[in-house]
Amino acid sequence: MAKVTFDYTNLREVEGGIGDRELQELGLRLEDAIDGFFKNPPGFMRLPKTAEFSSPSKALAEEVRALGATDFIHVGIGGSALGPIALHRALNHPYYNLLPSYPGPRLHFAENTDPATLAAILDVVDLPNTWVNVVTKSGSTAETIANFLVIRGNLVEALGEGTYREHVVFTTDSEEGYLRQIADREGTRTLPIPPDVGGRFSVLTPVGLFPAAVTGLDVDALLRGAAQCVDEVAQRGADHPAVEGAAYYYLMDVSKGRNVRVMMPYADPLDRFAAWFVQLWAESLGKEGRGSTPHGAVGTTDQHSQVQLYMEGPQDKVIEIIEVEDHPRDLPIPKAYEDLEGVGYLSGHTMAELLNVECNATRKALLEAGRPNATISLATLDEEHLGYLMQALEVQTAIAGSLYSVNAFNQPGVEAAKQITYSRMGRPGY
Ligand code: PA5
Repeated sequence: MAKVTFDYTNLREVEGGIGDRELQELGLRLEDAIDGFFKNPPGFMRLPKTAEFSSPSKALAEEVRALGATDFIHVGIGGSALGPIALHRALNHPYYNLLPSYPGPRLHFAENTDPATLAAILDVVDLPNTWVNVVTKSGSTAETIANFLVIRGNLVEALGEGTYREHVVFTTDSEEGYLRQIADREGTRTLPIPPDVGGRFSVLTPVGLFPAAVTGLDVDALLRGAAQCVDEVAQRGADHPAVEGAAYYYLMDVSKGRNVRVMMPYADPLDRFAAWFVQLWAESLGKEGRGSTPHGAVGTTDQHSQVQLYMEGPQDKVIEIIEVEDHPRDLPIPKAYEDLEGVGYLSGHTMAELLNVECNATRKALLEAGRPNATISLATLDEEHLGYLMQALEVQTAIAGSLYSVNAFNQPGVEAAKQITYSRMGRPGY
């Protein structure tokens, strides 16, 4: 069982924090939001309890691994990239691509259209043993299609028109889009993204599950953690702390003027998790002049970069710390220089202990400085805990959408630049 806890004490106890009356006043709206949520559950809520998407993801991943692929390029952007990147960063070895033992093929992410990245990927992959997974729900995102076309050109040159197709997977809408058309034409393997699950909510579809399985992560454990969250939200409704979190962050923004939400994990492997969350919160809620600004930081590194601002800068932020109680790896700090008081005191402790002590110290210092902060605690960092947390934050974001009275599942604001790009790049009809 995953043990994930949410502590909002320091949003209440801090000077000028949220009081009972404000929470009570919002209570009815929160109840309505959760009722509406369960009357018409968003597509992402059914993902943890079905093998519909994990089975084909695992099967194809096994094939890629068994064929001895040396390289796997994941092409996608936004919701089609940030979840898989977060999982990879959080759960795989940080030098995964350099490990001598075979954890799976080396993994490369082609997100942006910056040729610096794609050219660099093409510099290092062994093309005849490379697989490419093109991930786009719409099947028409310019960045993704362009990256695919360049990689395709290289693969065709290396393998020939016939064989290149065997190295390509399209992860795309299960019913429509240009990639479906190409797949029908070329017989490309495909994995489905369900039509009712939008990009930033799709990490537990093949978008996240397939690359995770290719690198040997336990996708069943990810889903198990997420399913536990679904059950607990169903049991506790508005009392589930992830749901309560929607009310806290909403009130911090609209009643207290704290419109910046800083997610600060005290764990390097969660830095890209924060980036995943930033997109989830920003793209879901930033509409019609509403929404708060999410920002990612990492402890302790950003204690030496941003915490000065959080402690003494404008009173416009809420700091959300993520702590890992039992870090998967730890290192003892050996005894040395015990006669030097500014050095020797560290001996006999461990690196994880220092990290968690600094986490507690920052929380206490923020509270004493009148800076509201909340904490999410994970008993440890593994697939099950991450699955739980991702599901919980997706629920929280959807409920926050109701409180802000915006549609959390669209992104009309990104359309305008797309249309202009299409027109300038000569796409017919634009
Ligand atoms: O969350 C979203 O819906 C977006 O960020 C999309 O994931 C992003 O624009 C990429 O879209 P697509 O998967 O259609 O290429």
